[in-house]
Amino acid sequence: PVKVRKICCIGAGYVGGPTCAVIALKCPHITVTIVDLNKARVDAWNSPDFDLPIYEPGLEDVVRQARGKNLFFSTDVDKGIEEADLIFVSVNTPTKKSGVGAGFAADLNYVELATRRIAAVANSSKIVVEKSTVPCRTAESMRTILEANSKPNCRFDILSNPEFLAEGTAIQDLFAPDRVLIGSLQTPEGKDACEALRSVYANWVPSERILTVGLWSSELSKLAANAMLAQRISSINALSAICEATGANIDEVAYAVGKDSRVGPKFLRASVGFGGSCFQKDILNLVYLSESLHLPEVAAYWRQVVEMNEYQKRRFSKRVVDTLFNTITGKKIAVLGFAFKADTGDTRESAAITLIKNFQAEKAFVTIYDPQVPHAQIWEDLKEASPHLTLEQIQKQVTITSSAVEACNKAEAVVIATEWKEFREIDWQDIHSRMSKPAFLFDGRLLVDAEKLRTIGFKVTTIGRGEVL
Ligand code: NAI
Repeated sequence: PVKVRKICCIGAGYVGGPTCAVIALKCPHITVTIVDLNKARVDAWNSPDFDLPIYEPGLEDVVRQARGKNLFFSTDVDKGIEEADLIFVSVNTPTKKSGVGAGFAADLNYVELATRRIAAVANSSKIVVEKSTVPCRTAESMRTILEANSKPNCRFDILSNPEFLAEGTAIQDLFAPDRVLIGSLQTPEGKDACEALRSVYANWVPSERILTVGLWSSELSKLAANAMLAQRISSINALSAICEATGANIDEVAYAVGKDSRVGPKFLRASVGFGGSCFQKDILNLVYLSESLHLPEVAAYWRQVVEMNEYQKRRFSKRVVDTLFNTITGKKIAVLGFAFKADTGDTRESAAITLIKNFQAEKAFVTIYDPQVPHAQIWEDLKEASPHLTLEQIQKQVTITSSAVEACNKAEAVVIATEWKEFREIDWQDIHSRMSKPAFLFDGRLLVDAEKLRTIGFKVTTIGRGEVL
């Protein structure tokens, strides 16, 4: 197997940035260059005061240690490709918005363009690694493109190495992964390429955690892992609806169910719904794959996980309206949290976007506070969610504030949409004194101590808990 000395990563996003920064840190003998077409993003990675383009606990520390030594960020994609022995393709694979498979299939255009670029500029053999989440058998398309365009004496070996990090804990996950998965063709060349990548991870990952499997199993495992994680959330959220209707308490139910070692306690927290760039996209991708394979029952099964998530967001919005005496027209609603979960500034598919859109439709005034998401990003997301409205129209109804206190000032209701730790530590007595009375609080993340807030005077509504006792 080749000894990897130079790595290039195409795509400096949430995945490419942290993964390859950690590889650089853990493998001082390997030079890692992360390239991206987006100059603003590359500039941010290179910023002298480490004002990085993504917020991730621990990331800045890693970049500070490696940048300029063996970790580089650049817009020179071609040079990065030419010099590398191994290339990660870590570009975005969003859900297609138009054409065949619109709304379900993954848009592989970015993967294809990156692959074509590799074929066009490579003058020596490369190991090409799919890091992006892709439909099963994408590696085959990549191989066809590379082989059809390669120069003489250039060999391309394709590996699948899906990324399992979670935003918010990316650095922790990369330092100590549950597993690293590498898929390769089971030919001698495929196995050699697999060994080359395995030896990179072996610098810090224990060998029993590096799993080597076939290419197609590797690609499908990533979709399967996300589908099963999201399914747990939709399952617990479906049960939260039953709790609200019966007087059972979802926290108690989740605790009791999770104590079964066959089920386990993780990912059983009811909420206003899952978000993020991956769960919905990857399940829809699996649905599309199932349909393409003429497996309609399988497609319907997974599709329901996404539908339950939509239902949960709708149900929560309706509960807010119902509780506020069936109307929120003209009322001020403070939304705490806009990121799709805590410890990230990422807002892709955030449940908060849907909630706010629903409140806007009811003609409420909405104030938003999030500790990490830049205001410009919030405006962009709200604009995209309501394409029929101009920004000026949106701004008549929506205000972004720079503190929770400011957002809640004179509000009739406060809605917790993201489980930021700082919301647990808020001086709720102070907030209560500033709000209109009765002061309503809707906990969409099972974050606050409802009983304590009731003693302050809040009317508290919690996911998965009914009024019935
Ligand atoms: P992202 O959108 O943050 O980053 C992708 C980057 O690739 C962008 O900066 C874009 O400018 C760049 N890019 C696109 N085409 C390019 C080209 N031809 N040449 C150079 N640069 C190019 O996306 P993110 O979140 O990093 O996701 C990347 C992949 O990883 C996706 O397939 C996603 O499903 C997968 N993934 C994401 C996870 C997450 O938590 N965000 C976790 C695990 C996998």
